[in-house]
Amino acid sequence: MTFKPLPLLIDHEDKSSPLKNRLRKNYQHRRKWAERTKTNCFRLYDRDIKDYPFAIDFYDRRFCVHYFASKQDPDDRFEIEVENVLADLFHAKKEDIYWRTRVRRTKIEQYEKKDLSSDFFVVQEYGVKFWVNLRDYLDTGLFLDHRETRHLIASMAKGKSLLNLFAYTGSFSVHAALGGALFTKTVDMSNTYCAWAENNFRLNKINAKTNIIERADCLKFFDQETQKYDLIVLDPPTLSRSKKMAHIFDIQEDYKELIEKALRILKPNGTLFFSTNSRKFQIDSSLLPPCSLREISSKTEPIDFKGRKAHRCWTIQALT
Ligand SMILES: C[S@@+](CC[C@H](N)C(=O)[O-])C[C@H]1O[C@@H](n2cnc3c(N)ncnc32)[C@H](O)[C@@H]1O
Repeated sequence: MTFKPLPLLIDHEDKSSPLKNRLRKNYQHRRKWAERTKTNCFRLYDRDIKDYPFAIDFYDRRFCVHYFASKQDPDDRFEIEVENVLADLFHAKKEDIYWRTRVRRTKIEQYEKKDLSSDFFVVQEYGVKFWVNLRDYLDTGLFLDHRETRHLIASMAKGKSLLNLFAYTGSFSVHAALGGALFTKTVDMSNTYCAWAENNFRLNKINAKTNIIERADCLKFFDQETQKYDLIVLDPPTLSRSKKMAHIFDIQEDYKELIEKALRILKPNGTLFFSTNSRKFQIDSSLLPPCSLREISSKTEPIDFKGRKAHRCWTIQALT
C-alpha cells in the first residue's frame, strides 16, 4: 500500500467563516510534515476558537469530530457549519464525518463496543499501517497523541525485546516490531482489542511467532511472567472496571504497584515507558523503588497536540 499524497487546498481566505480559515491554516501547516513522515492521521483543530468547542481529527480524508460539552448532543448549528466547511475545503461528504460526544466522563470508562455496525479502514503513521474505526467503539483504534512516543520506541527497538501492557490495539508493538525488535509481547484484557491488534500485525506482515498477543489482566500478568524485557510500555487507562478484573483500577492509586512490578521484569539497563492521560495525576518518586525517573512529555508531544497536555510520559530505569 503506497502513501497517497494528501489533498492540496485552494488557498484563499473566506472572511465569513473563522472556522474555515483556521482549519485551512492548520492543515497547510501540517500537510508538508504529514507527507514527509508518511502520516495521514493527525489532529486538525483543537478548540482553537473559543466559540467552537470541539476537536477535529483527519483520518485519511475522513474526519472525527470530538464535541466537548456538558450536554450530550452537539448544537445543530455546529454540525451544519462543520459539514459545510469540510465539504468546501476537502470535498468531504456527510458520511465522511463522524461525530463523537465527549461528555465529561464521570463514570468509570468502558472500552468495549458501542453498537454493532462495522466500519474499518486503514491509515498510516510514519508509514506504519493501522486499522481504525471512527464509528463503532469508544475510541478509534489509534491514540494520535502518542505518535511520537511510538516513533521513539521504534527507534530504540532494534535487537530488543518489548512488553506492551494495556496495549489496546497493539500500536506500540507494531512500531517496535517494524523497528527491528527481536520479540514483542502485547497484553490486553479485551478480546476485541487483542483481535484488533492481531489484525494490525497481519496488516504490517509482522511475524506472529516472535510477536505474541496475550489476553490477560495486566495486574495479574506480572505474577506469572518469567521473562525479562529491554523495553516495557505501561500506558494504562485512568480508571477501569470490568467483570474480568478483581478490583476497580485507578491510576493514581495503582501506579506505584504497577511500576514496581514492571521494574522487576525489566532487564538491567532496560527502559520502562510510563504514561498517563490523567490530568490530575501526580507522581511521587519517593514511593517508587530506587530508579531514575525522567519526564519526557515535551519530547513525546506531537506538533498537532502542542500545548494541549494530552498525555504525560516518563522513562524509568532501575538503579541497582
Ligand atoms: C487507554 S487504553 C491504553 C492505550 C494504549 N496503551 C495505546 O496507546 O494504544 C486502555 C486499554 O487498557 C485495557 N485494560 C484496562 N484494564 C486492563 C487490565 N486490568 N488489564 C489489561 N488490560 C486492561 C483496555 O482493554 C484498553 O484496551
